[in-house]
Amino acid sequence: MVLAFLLTISLYLTIRAWLESGYLGKGSKNFMNEKQTICVLPELQLWHPDIKPFFMNPSPLECSSVEENWIYTTNGSYHISEAALQKHRDVLCEYTPLHRGKDDFEVKRGTSKKGSAVKVKLETDMFLARCVGSDGGTYSNVHSSIAYKEELHKKPHRKPQQMNVLMFGLDSTSRLTWIRNLPRTHDYVTSQLGAVVMEGYNIVGDGTPQALLPILTGHNEMELPEARKGFDNASFVDGHPWIWKELKDNGYVTQWGEDGAAFGTFTYRMLGFKEQPVDHYMRTFYLSAEDMYYRNKPYCMGSVPRHVNMLNWIREFYRMYPDQPKFSFLFHSELSHDVHSMSRLIDQDLKDLIWDLDQEGHLDNTLLILMADHGARFQSMRQTEQGKFEERLPYLSLRFPPKFLRSHPDVAANLQKNSKRLSTPYDLHATFQQLLNFNRSQTDPRAKSFMTEIPKSRTCAEAGVEPHWCSCLQWQRISSSDYIIHKTAAELVKAINSFSSKHRHMCAELRLHNITSAARFIATEDVLRFKKSLDEDGRLADLSDDMSVSDVLYQIAIGTEPNQATYEGIVTHHTHSNTFTVSYRQISRTNRYGDQPHCVQKKHPHLRPFCFCTKQM
Ligand SMILES: *[C@@H]1O[C@H](CO)[C@@H](O)[C@H](O)[C@H]1NC(C)=O
Ligand SMILES: *[C@@H]1O[C@H](CO)[C@@H](O)[C@H](O)[C@H]1NC(C)=O
Ligand SMILES: *[C@@H]1O[C@H](CO)[C@@H](O)[C@H](O)[C@H]1NC(C)=O
Ligand SMILES: *[C@@H]1O[C@H](CO)[C@@H](O)[C@H](O)[C@H]1NC(C)=O
Repeated sequence: MVLAFLLTISLYLTIRAWLESGYLGKGSKNFMNEKQTICVLPELQLWHPDIKPFFMNPSPLECSSVEENWIYTTNGSYHISEAALQKHRDVLCEYTPLHRGKDDFEVKRGTSKKGSAVKVKLETDMFLARCVGSDGGTYSNVHSSIAYKEELHKKPHRKPQQMNVLMFGLDSTSRLTWIRNLPRTHDYVTSQLGAVVMEGYNIVGDGTPQALLPILTGHNEMELPEARKGFDNASFVDGHPWIWKELKDNGYVTQWGEDGAAFGTFTYRMLGFKEQPVDHYMRTFYLSAEDMYYRNKPYCMGSVPRHVNMLNWIREFYRMYPDQPKFSFLFHSELSHDVHSMSRLIDQDLKDLIWDLDQEGHLDNTLLILMADHGARFQSMRQTEQGKFEERLPYLSLRFPPKFLRSHPDVAANLQKNSKRLSTPYDLHATFQQLLNFNRSQTDPRAKSFMTEIPKSRTCAEAGVEPHWCSCLQWQRISSSDYIIHKTAAELVKAINSFSSKHRHMCAELRLHNITSAARFIATEDVLRFKKSLDEDGRLADLSDDMSVSDVLYQIAIGTEPNQATYEGIVTHHTHSNTFTVSYRQISRTNRYGDQPHCVQKKHPHLRPFCFCTKQM
């Protein structure tokens, strides 16, 4: 009874909110409502037929077919493995620390040391190891680890403990591609850990720097000091307002790394850093390791897959600093950048890492962020409308510690709301700022912390998204007599009936009674016409594409009989194949159902809005 009452109240509030927003027509003549202020996002299909052929199962990596690495690292030391000692008897190793050179483009080798100790304390995070066994066997590899740095353990920090940030990113991975290729990780973080996926997370530019600069500095490249190679007045990127500077000042230990040193986000077109920007910096490793890739199996460093090496570096960081506040950002591109399906190889290992960190208690105080910079940018994908939208909507999920959400129920509610709203990389930056100072007011009007409510009415212009990147669909005038309206309404009724079809002996089949409102949305002209960036800095857009609309989204409100119900739903018309998809999760009943579903409500509560019991009480 109480539940029914609450449901009625919440339905009433939903309807009132919709009416107030001008969203739902009040009468039957509301087909030309031009006051569309809400960002309507496209309904993208996970396995859209245009996209499906690009995905397949990659063959597994063969790293473990070579002899297991002789050297492994834990807690600031390297160890010679038991297996290597057994097989090669006396093992003599030469250890060479790798230091960062004068800037981002140089590595300096430290003084090598030889010895046969099975455990050696590391001087630097990155090092070369060359070993020989008494049986003549040899081993040579580059390793990454977290060396023990006393000053970082002594850093003062605030109590109670500040929240850690752990952000892991994949290059070129749309929201849907992440779900296609990393389903275990996605399911684990969403269903088990309660992460929220931001479905309206929209890019603000073309390329990795255009995503990472806003996240890490709150600004886009044009707003920051000139740092491009070959420009007279350009300087290193050190002067940018990096978030990790502020985090360090607040006692955080910081970690950042990306693979692909030759194409580094801040070093490919830009001059990179003069000084090492974070406490633990992986570039030194990749500068050395990538020169040796040719000696290894594809995607391997010895017996360890390269992406596993990257993930291990996060694990070692967390174990090295159990009590310090930590900021960690690792960005992987090797397996995700070029071939659509290769990132499947990361899924299990990433899930395992997150599971381990959770088991060890680290996630109790960590904001876990899984993200991507943008979707795939291959011409073949960009030639489909679905591909264009996927490029603009990268994956982003946020998982706050449950304890934090329990003590901040408003934040928990905002995350749910924000998951359906337009958001951008600037909002991640604002989130970090709010973590540092919970009550800080946001000064940049285009940025909104994910912990606060993002307005439903937010437009791309307000969020700092240029028209050709904006995924919000454009409202289109439609006539109430248009045949397509009746067709989509019929599809919606069919979908509603399908919910109860297994219970037809109890639930009446519903029929369309009226259509009270309908709105049509299509991709904006700028999105359809965007072909590519004209310059390598991604500042100028080539708007010469002539793609025609392929998917049209309809928002319709209908009435059905015999249950005198009103429903609202979204139906997408695929004009090229003249087929329809109904968004099942988005069908909502907008009037109260009272006792109508009494015959199923106990056993099948999800059917309540859709079942009209043939025997009414
Ligand atoms: C890790 O190394 C530090 C410093 O060398 C040492 O104090 C600490 O006891 C070690 N922890 C473990 C678990 O071995
Ligand atoms: C760099 O020089 C260009 C061209 O002279 C000028 O437009 C720009 O404002 C300068 N940028 C900075 C940061 O000084
Ligand atoms: C934020 O402000 C509120 C109200 O002034 C206060 O109760 C709360 O403790 C503040 N939170 C933090 C984290 O400073
Ligand atoms: C549409 O149909 C529903 C359900 O039968 C009914 O409650 C509603 O009053 C109708 N609306 C109009 C405007 O006729």
